Amino acid sequence: MGELAAHVCCGCPVAGVRGRATVPSRYPGDGDGMAQVMAGILDLFRLDGRVALVTGASSGLGVVFAQALAEAGADVVLAARRADRLAETAALVEKTGRRQVSVVTDVAEPGDCQRAAESALAAFGRIDLLVNNAGIGTAVPASRETPEEFRRVIDINLNGCYWMAQACGKVMRPGSSIINITSVLGITTAGLPQAAYSASKAALIGLTRDLAQQWTGRKGIRVNAIAPGFFKSEMSAQYAPGYLDSMRPRIVAGGPGDPRQLAATLVWLASDAAGYVTGQTIVVDGGFTIT
Ligand SMILES: NC(=O)c1ccc[n+]([C@@H]2O[C@H](COP(=O)([O-])OP(=O)(O)OC[C@H]3O[C@@H](n4cnc5c(N)ncnc54)[C@H](OP(=O)(O)O)[C@@H]3O)[C@@H](O)[C@H]2O)c1
Repeated sequence: MGELAAHVCCGCPVAGVRGRATVPSRYPGDGDGMAQVMAGILDLFRLDGRVALVTGASSGLGVVFAQALAEAGADVVLAARRADRLAETAALVEKTGRRQVSVVTDVAEPGDCQRAAESALAAFGRIDLLVNNAGIGTAVPASRETPEEFRRVIDINLNGCYWMAQACGKVMRPGSSIINITSVLGITTAGLPQAAYSASKAALIGLTRDLAQQWTGRKGIRVNAIAPGFFKSEMSAQYAPGYLDSMRPRIVAGGPGDPRQLAATLVWLASDAAGYVTGQTIVVDGGFTIT
């Protein structure tokens, strides 16, 4: 406690941004984040009363993210194209005791993104967290990839995140946050011809940085990214037999990660525990990018 108190006394707002508008505390009457420091440390990780919008919530990591955010206390807006699969995620969220609303959304369509944000507002009156998780993975040799194939990946993985961020950023209050799910492929290569996917994920890291510098000080919205390594999902199930094994020597931790480990990082980054983190890409890859 002595160390934390000394930190606050030096004038650096723990839950704020130096020299600009501070990211406000969620504790009434607390202007500088002191009450957050005084709260039990694990309380900072709770998301009670928050509203989270998760794209790509119909399969894979998005399902685990939606469930984890609900377990941490958030109501969740579920967005993706497959309504039947969203219904399965909805049941998992409701099992935690939290509320959900599902919105069929194609993130490549700006109008759909706007509608998803409006549905969230209509259902819950606010959006505190946007998780830009929807994405497609492709592997096509550069000598053969068509303009349509390349554009489709960029449209969903990059542009879709921007349309969603714009739609939500307009209505988000200070203290909100955006988390973009990029990939280690935005940072390194992994033996497959993935120009479109890698370009989209690298660009998403740049988008994250820029939105953070535009919106954290002015609007009080933190913007961060998570770069996963290898995790089990419908996307990773498409790998050719033997591909994952060929990557193992590069994974210091020994093999693919558990999606719950990724979801734990998401909950932390979404919460007041990460109130002073913005513009960052958090790599969760079992050490893949250090080899
Ligand atoms: N799994 C991994 O190891 C790994 C590693 C690094 C990064 N990632 C990233 O993590 C995110 C989730 O991937 P995943 O592994 O969970 O893959 P997944 O199981 O294939 O899930 C992808 C999700 O994105 C949704 N989606 C795709 N196109 C969409 C569109 N146009 N509009 C709305 N939703 C769309 C899909 O739903 P619908 O088809 O119902 O629309 C699905 O819910 C992706 O951004 C991926 O690049 C995953």
